[in-house]
Amino acid sequence: MCVKMNIDIISVLPQIFSALHHGVLGRALKKEILQVHCWDVRNCADNKRRSIDDKPYGGGPGMVMMAKPLRETIHRIQAERTKPNWVVYLSPQGTVLKQAGVVRLKEKLDTHNLVLLCGRYEGIDERVIAQMVDEECSIGDYILSGGEFAAMVLIDAIARLLPGVLGDSTSAEDDSFSRGLLEYPHYTRPEEDENGLRVPEVLLSGDHQAIARWRRRMAIVRTLEKRPDLLNDAQLSAEEKAILRELIFCDF
Ligand SMILES: C[S@@+](CC[C@H](N)C(=O)[O-])C[C@H]1O[C@@H](n2cnc3c(N)ncnc32)[C@H](O)[C@@H]1O
Repeated sequence: MCVKMNIDIISVLPQIFSALHHGVLGRALKKEILQVHCWDVRNCADNKRRSIDDKPYGGGPGMVMMAKPLRETIHRIQAERTKPNWVVYLSPQGTVLKQAGVVRLKEKLDTHNLVLLCGRYEGIDERVIAQMVDEECSIGDYILSGGEFAAMVLIDAIARLLPGVLGDSTSAEDDSFSRGLLEYPHYTRPEEDENGLRVPEVLLSGDHQAIARWRRRMAIVRTLEKRPDLLNDAQLSAEEKAILRELIFCDF
């Protein structure tokens, strides 16, 4: 029985998930801050050929993943876990994933066992969605061949928010979208590059308050330039609102 932060993935191509074992996410798995288990739907196929898909009723192209092996896999997962399942079907028809959705699903991990259901082919039998899926999640308005890469995007985004995963936990707090703004620009050595471009002087000043003020201002400048739509929902302090007003009125 497992009580840790746990994500179970249901897929016909579990081997794809070997990519999870690298970088920040790889370290999170190694330190067991997060556990991820892959379940091959074919292990619940009820035929010799282990087939889990069939032609769509009504005709038309492609194949559809059958309900029975998917249901059986979800039941097997629940039998192994102490927390109740929260089943997320990765689907282009789901709610488009935003940082607020990532935070919500990360919090779900405290009370639930997250099950990520990856479709293939034309998708999965609608009766599974109706009966067993708690929510549908899309990673954008385009079509992937399968839910596996979408599941990896979601797992990576969740793992970054778990305590102990990032070397410096404050780096996630400043990340783009965390408060509704894009992050300020970054520079590293040298102070002046081969094209004569210099790092902004304030970043070399050692004055931490001035640096923080500059970063707050630049986060607003960038958001206004690149993603003004985000400003409608951004949580701005009084100082940030004043900066925004000033930038708008001086036609940055
Ligand atoms: C080829 S798609 C099926 C698309 C489906 N016929 C439709 O038009 O809605 C196969 C699988 O890829 C996954 N998928 C495709 N696009 C996705 C997206 N934008 N976000 C999340 N999952 C996606 C889903 O799991 C889906 O079942």
